[in-house]
Amino acid sequence: MKIERKSPLYDGKSKIIFETDHEDLAIQYFKDDATAFNAQKKGTILNKGVLNNQISSQIFRYLEKHGVHSHFVNRISDREMLVKKLKIIPVEVVVRNKAAGSICKRLGLEKGTPFKKPLVEYFFKNDSLGDPLISEGHIEYFQWATSSELNFMKNTALTVNKMLGPCFEKIGLFLVDFKLEFGRTHRGELLLADEITLDGCRLWDTVTGESMDKDRFRFDLGKVDETYREVAVRLNHYFESQL
Ligand code: TMP
Ligand code: ASP
Repeated sequence: MKIERKSPLYDGKSKIIFETDHEDLAIQYFKDDATAFNAQKKGTILNKGVLNNQISSQIFRYLEKHGVHSHFVNRISDREMLVKKLKIIPVEVVVRNKAAGSICKRLGLEKGTPFKKPLVEYFFKNDSLGDPLISEGHIEYFQWATSSELNFMKNTALTVNKMLGPCFEKIGLFLVDFKLEFGRTHRGELLLADEITLDGCRLWDTVTGESMDKDRFRFDLGKVDETYREVAVRLNHYFESQL
C-alpha cells in the first residue's frame, strides 16, 4: 500500500509528525536537531535522525515480537517511520535503574546509586513549565489518563525495561534510565508511542562507565556524533544476529 505524506500535524524539537492520506496513519520524521534542558540548549548531531529512526524501528520491532505493541508500523525511509496516528498523553514515563540526571539533583542522590528495583517516575510534558515531576494523583486528577491506563503505562514501562536491559548488556551498555510516551488511537486503544533512542535513554559503558547517550551533547563531553553512530552500529549487529 502506497502511503502519501501530507502536511505536518506537529513540528517538534527532534521530530515532525506528518498527516497521510490514510486517516489512521501518520509519518514520523526524525531530524538531526538536538535540544536539552527543555530546549535551552540547541544543536545538531550528525545523522542523528537516520540513526534514531533505525534504532527506534529495531527496538519497536523487537518489542512487538515479544508482545509489547507500539505505534510503529514500518520504517519507510532513512528518516521516516510509518506509525499509527495517536493523540499523545502529556505524561512522560521514566524508568530508572541507577540514579542519574534530575533525580540526583532533586533528592541529593549520588550519581550511579543503584535502585533495588526499577523506579518509575512521571513528568508533565510541558516545556514552558520545565517538564515538572508529577504523581499518579496528578495524572488521575487532571484526567491525563485513567487509573487503568496509568497501570498499563507503568507495567509496559517496566516490561520494556526488563526486555531492553539485557539487549544493551549484550552490547556492553548498562541501561541507566529511559523515558517513554504513550498515546491513544481514535478508537481509544492505548499504545507505546514516540521513540526509543539515545535521546531519551541513559546508557553507560559497562567497562569504562562512560556516557554513551545524549548526556555527551547535554554536557559537552565530546564525540557526540561518533557515540550515536557507535551505539547504532552495535545495536544493529545485535538485532541482526537475533533474526
Ligand atoms: P531526567 O534525569 O532528566 O529526569 O531524565 C531521565 C531520562 O528520561 C533520561 O534518559 C532522559 C529522559 N527524558 C527525556 O528524554 N525527556 C524528558 O523530557 C525527560 C523529563 C526525560
Ligand atoms: N527532552 C528534553 C529536552 O529536550 C530534556 C532533555 O533531553 O534534556 O529539553
